[in-house]
Parts: sequence; C-alpha cells; structure tokens
Amino acid sequence: MCGIVAYVGDNEAYPILIKGLKRLEYRGYDSSGIALINNNNLNLYKKQGKVIELEKFTEGKDIVSTIGIGHTRWATHGAPNDINAHPHYSKSKNLAIIHNGIIENYASLKKELIQRGHEFESDTDTEVLIHLIEDIQYVAKVDLVEAVRIALNEVIGAYAIVIISKDNPNVMIAAKKSSPLVIGVGHHGEYFVASDATPIVEYTKNVVYLDDEQIAVIEKGKDLRLINIKNQEITPYIQELEIQLETIEKGGYEHFMLKEIYEQPTSIKNSMRGRLDVNKGIVSLGGIRDYEQKIMNANRIIIVACGTSWHAGLVGEYLFEDLTRIPVEVEYASEFRYRNPIINENDVIIAISQSGETADTLAAIKLAKEKGATIIGICNVVGSTISRETHCGSYTHAGPEIGVASTKAFTAQVTVLTLMALSIGYKKGAISDSKYRLLLTELDAIPGKVEQMLKSDIQVKYISEIFKDSSNFLYLGRGYNFPVALEGALKLKEISYIHAEGYPAAEMKHGPIALIDEDMPLVVVATKHGNYEKVVSNIEEVKARSGKIIAIVTEGDTEVKAIADHIIEIPATEDCLSPLLTSIPMQLLSYHIAVMRGCNVDQPRNLAKSVTVE
Ligand code: AGP
Repeated sequence: MCGIVAYVGDNEAYPILIKGLKRLEYRGYDSSGIALINNNNLNLYKKQGKVIELEKFTEGKDIVSTIGIGHTRWATHGAPNDINAHPHYSKSKNLAIIHNGIIENYASLKKELIQRGHEFESDTDTEVLIHLIEDIQYVAKVDLVEAVRIALNEVIGAYAIVIISKDNPNVMIAAKKSSPLVIGVGHHGEYFVASDATPIVEYTKNVVYLDDEQIAVIEKGKDLRLINIKNQEITPYIQELEIQLETIEKGGYEHFMLKEIYEQPTSIKNSMRGRLDVNKGIVSLGGIRDYEQKIMNANRIIIVACGTSWHAGLVGEYLFEDLTRIPVEVEYASEFRYRNPIINENDVIIAISQSGETADTLAAIKLAKEKGATIIGICNVVGSTISRETHCGSYTHAGPEIGVASTKAFTAQVTVLTLMALSIGYKKGAISDSKYRLLLTELDAIPGKVEQMLKSDIQVKYISEIFKDSSNFLYLGRGYNFPVALEGALKLKEISYIHAEGYPAAEMKHGPIALIDEDMPLVVVATKHGNYEKVVSNIEEVKARSGKIIAIVTEGDTEVKAIADHIIEIPATEDCLSPLLTSIPMQLLSYHIAVMRGCNVDQPRNLAKSVTVE
C-alpha cells in the first residue's frame, strides 16, 4: 500500500515523479503528492484523488527541480484528503518525508512532541515521524542521517521512507523496514528510489534492494552509502533488473486486467519454462531442489496466503493431497499468525504471494520460521520481501501484474503448485508412472488450451450484457473447482461491486438455495470430472427454483447444455488441471460486467494491489 518514488540527479525530477506515480498507482490512489526543491524553497504539492488530479493542480506552478519525492496513498491514518496526503513537512518546514507503512507507536510519540511544542497539520503517523526526526536533530545536535537513525530506533512498525532537506538539495535519505524500497543507480551519478522497480526500469537496470533496518544516504554524483540502524556500514549489492518496459505498459489493451487475462497462455508457459520436460518425463524446480527431501518427509504442509493467493493455495491443497498424499492445511495468513498455531520442525509452510509484500503473509512466515518450520515461497515479484524471507521457493514468472484484480498471477501460482506436487508426488512414489506421464503431457498442453479458451471472450461478453445489472451472483464448484468458484466470486465483487458468493456446489442446499429466484444468476463449473453427475443434480435444483444458470462445461457436453441458460465450453483436460481453464471465463465475466457498469477495473475503489498493512 502506498507508492513511493524519488529522484536526484541532473534531470528534471517532476516528469520522472509523475510518470513513476502513475506506474505505482496500483498501490493506492486515495491521494498523491510531490515535494521539490528549487531556489532554496522546499515546495509541497498534494491533492486528494488520482495522480491526474495532482497534475492538474501543479499546472502553472513552479515545478523546476532536480530533486524530488512523490507519493501515492492508500489511507491508513487519517481520511483521504489533501492535508493527509504525503509528503509531510517537519516543524520548521526544512524537511519533507514520504512514507509507506504504519508507525504503530505514533500516538505516544505525538503526545511527547506536542508537549514539546510541536503542532500537527494532519492526522497521519508520517507527520509525527518527520517531526520526531527534526526534533532529534536539534535536541541531540546531530546531522540528519544520525537523526533518522536514532528516530528509527524509537519507532515501532513498518516503514519505507524517503526524506529530503532544503539545506541539502543534492541528498535524499531513504530507509525501510517491512515495506519495500529499491534504489536505482542511474548514469552520471543520478539516483532513483521507488516502492518497486516499475518507475525505475526505463532509466536504469542497476538496482539495490534495501534490506530491513537499512538506511541509504543517496547523494548526486557520489557513491551510494548504506548503514543499518545500529550504525554499521554495509556494502551495497547492485543487481540487474530483469523486467522489460513493455511488460508494465498496456500494449494496446483498454485495461491492464484485460491484457493480463490475455497474457495467460504465455505467463503459464513461463511458469513452466525450464521446469517441465515432457519428453524426458522430468519436472525440476531448481529453487526447491535442496529441500525436496524435507518436503517429502514433512508431517504436513501448511499453505498460508491471502485473497486470490489463498484460493490458489486451496487448489494446492487438492493437488498435494491427491498427488503426494501429504496432509495439507490452508490458512488465511491473517488468522494463522494470531491464533497461536501448532507448528513444529517437521512442518513445511508454503507461502503464496503475488507481490511478495503482503504484511499478514510475511508475519505468518516469520512466526513459522521462529518455530523451526521450513518455509517455501511462491512469489511473482522477484526480490520481494517474502521471496527473501523464505528458505527456498519458486518464482511464478508471470511478469508484472498491474491490475489490482489478480488474474495471471493466480494461474501461474496454480501452475507452480502443480509442478511442485507432481515432482514431490512422483519422487515419493505416490503417483504411478503412467499417471505422472499423462499429467505432464496434459500440463504441457494447457497454454494452448487457455489460448483456445480466450476465444470464448465474445460469448462471455454477450452473457455479461444480460447479467450486468444483477445485484447478486452465486458461484458453485466442487472438488478442484470449488476454489475456482470462490475466486470467481471474489473477482466479481472487487471490480464490479456486485455481491457474490462462492460455495461448494453441494453446500447450496444447506442454506444458499434460499436465495435462488429468477433474479439470481448462478455461475457453476460442471466439467466432466469426478462429481459431474452430482453437479448436474445441483443445477437441476437451481433450475427448479427459476435461477438463471451460466455453466462452464467440457467441450461437447449435452446434458448441462439442455438445462443451463448459457454454457461456456472448456477443452477437455484432467480434473486437477481444470482450474487453469475454468478460471479464465470467470475472469472475463467479471471484467466485462465491471466495464459495462462503468467501474474502474484496474483500480477498484478502496483496494490496493499490495497490502502491506495488517
Ligand atoms: C486479488 O484479486 C486481490 N486483489 C487480493 O485478494 C490479493 O490476492 C491479496 O491481497 C494477496 O496479495 P498477494 O498475492 O500479493 O500476497
């Protein structure tokens, strides 16, 4: 939550900051703001709403500067208005700060500062932090870097911050704990700082990811200096960015979400690239190789995640239990971390996260690590905090996902879970050679089948037009497709603001069936697998109560076609691989309905892509 971007160098900061903020808007869009230094003035421009509002606000203003910081906010402390927007000034207005995270002890710090004569304009924890830093500078008579270091030893919570000072227009000070921060080392002594690499990639590919409790002193024309909050010098480790500029642009699509849905044949292929060799019958995930024995001998696997990643985790439960015979539990990271769970050294935790920054998932990992469990990560963002906190793991390689609603990340997560379960299951002797070979062949064919699925887009759009004004939706699925039903409902809720519920199909008669009438559309997965006949019976029950049925069926199905109002066909595949196909029409349905309702598909209200607060 919240996006940070900063620049110091010989070029104009303003266009770099605005472009960067637009790339980071997916992290929050309640308000945005920038601070620039020129002619010995430190000017703040901030505005409620999206970055476009800030651009309008700065028209005609003095924005010439070669140093600047910018922020796009997802509100935590204080309403999303102009005053609470970042950056914030210090008491003397000599310093300005941008912050992503939460200072948990801000109330007590604020009280002390008020007693010492500080006055605050905003309701934010961030303003307290910059006042504290300046207070330390004066009271302890130390320079700004030391004041930042002392202050960060006093605060409890999460932060990624960048500070600039009117007194030194060539220097930025950045620091992080639990919120991400990356520094771009540009040409001719220029530097960039951002929450992720997307605002940086077009200027430089050389980056330094800050670790927790590290402080960077970033001075134009000088080498980057790193210390930690214990005041130990650290040698910066410069890495090369792998992302390409095209992957973070819309490439002709109306929305990122649509582009990302359409990228799935490629993103799924990329998740398997170098890991699956059908001809040789090999599945090999280099990132977990050293821990495979440990996984095979695990007492149980606990999957922790949030939101869509949690749904992928549920598919993972079916896959692992089915193919490896290792017991699996799937936990909401937010519940797991607070309920004193029983974890021991023979447990393996799989943490799934697209962003690799989700605060609850990160906290769950830390807790399980303390208790001696082995932690495997499945992340999309390379170099993210979760990917660095785990013992081992596999990246999903789906490429940057910008749309707040997760689509290609979900199918990539399911693909990686499938590869893991196949590899472990086969080595453990839990699946036969013939089943293993069949699944490898079928998995290899999935990208082509997704491609085929995407051709149903026109038909899904037609169905969307019919149901776009509905107030409620029910999603049903069984077995492997129960998590897909949950995911379909989540997609619709988050981008179209229509109330939707996902249920295991057989649970319907234990309550939700009471909701069925002619105004209730029901999306049901009825593919030709294990429980097909039972799902058909569930559909009949809905039909008898005048519910409107949109069924996702296997190509050539006639039985469901005869009773459903609308059908969407998927190519035949194995049951355990079907979520990779059945989830596609659900994504398209929610996308089209949201567009038809005039919703902001890529940036739905109240949401942010990366939830770095608890
Ligand atoms: C999905 O569409 C959501 N925006 C959300 O549920 C998301 O999956 C969740 O916040 C977890 O994020 P992560 O995968 O980055 O950890």
